[in-house]
Amino acid sequence: MKSINLARPFFDNDEIQEVQKVLDSGWVSQGPKVKEFEEKVSNFIGVKYAIAVTNCTCALHLANLSIGLTKQDEVLVADYTFPATGHSVLYCGARPVFVDVDQKTYNIDPEKIEASITPKTKAIIPVHTFGQCADMDPIMEIAEKHDLFVIEDAACALGSKYKKKFAGSIGNIGCFSFHARKGITTGEGGMVVTNNKEIAEKIKYLSVFGMKTAWERETKKSFMIPQFFDMGYNYKMSDISAAIGVAQMKKIERIIKRKQELAKYWDNLLDQMDFISKPHNSKKCFHVYQSYVAMVDKKINRNAVIEKMAEEGIQTQIGTYASHIQPVYRYKKKCRVSFDIYNRAIALPHYYSLNNKDIDEISGILPKILKGAS
Ligand SMILES: Cc1ncc(COP(=O)(O)O)c(C=O)c1O
Repeated sequence: MKSINLARPFFDNDEIQEVQKVLDSGWVSQGPKVKEFEEKVSNFIGVKYAIAVTNCTCALHLANLSIGLTKQDEVLVADYTFPATGHSVLYCGARPVFVDVDQKTYNIDPEKIEASITPKTKAIIPVHTFGQCADMDPIMEIAEKHDLFVIEDAACALGSKYKKKFAGSIGNIGCFSFHARKGITTGEGGMVVTNNKEIAEKIKYLSVFGMKTAWERETKKSFMIPQFFDMGYNYKMSDISAAIGVAQMKKIERIIKRKQELAKYWDNLLDQMDFISKPHNSKKCFHVYQSYVAMVDKKINRNAVIEKMAEEGIQTQIGTYASHIQPVYRYKKKCRVSFDIYNRAIALPHYYSLNNKDIDEISGILPKILKGAS
């Protein structure tokens, strides 16, 4: 049997041509391609400002800094996420307070948010897990009631929608990832989006060493020597990465459509299998299925399934992490649902160029392995 990867990016000649143009131009660090990529993303999701950065972790860090997060503050973070979300709060010296998630959607449970709010709470970071939007209406209502910022961790959710609104455009700030396993990729990469001019400007100059005029210089003809107003960072995206991003944006809708088709195909097969359940697809959402993450039954040893599948040449993985159990956070409270999902979720192969036949082949093996792991 051939080996089947968990994920695989989709590139063709477009990426090669776009990168070639950048190499030929001689301008390979941040420049016009980054601007073009930012415009493509901001137009696609309908936001005023987009700032390309090195990765989504940097995007989240800058988003947190732009709202003035300090060590006195607490931020409510969806527990079931890649720990970049919690880390980004620690980078500002603030404290992440982890909120448990919904068993079906794997997303922050709005009913559990208010109990975690204290006078120190400054923001909520919902995560649009695996490309399905968190339940944003109640989250925005709670944020308004308690005067909190909402930073959407939309790392996995470019193109995903909640009630027809694009992920990343609903809260005050949205953050995307272009890591290799995401919907579209630039190898490593990220983007911050917002409709707030002040926030956008702050994020931009913090991403270039706290050098305000670096942005202003683009629009002014006169000679200006930059000044450094803040301890900013070098979180710039390069034009080489942006060139790949520009080419990827041409195919984003195709990629999403195909991944949705594959998800349906998986769903039908999992419906006929014992010991495993398909992921929930909320009616409120346009789910882009960055990953296809199913749940094994409680009596199944999920890790054994991953190991046995690997022996058959099929890559599978855990979904993502329960943040509250990670030693770095020294966190005392429990998030039981997140912990359960962390132990039982399994990401199955899912990518644009995967064939239905590949899924048939995997589905021929999976039931036996599940049975053996019960
Ligand atoms: C939910 C979530 N947030 C943030 C990140 C961090 O993204 P990046 O790798 O681009 O820094 C990831 C990456 O896997 C993620 O899944």
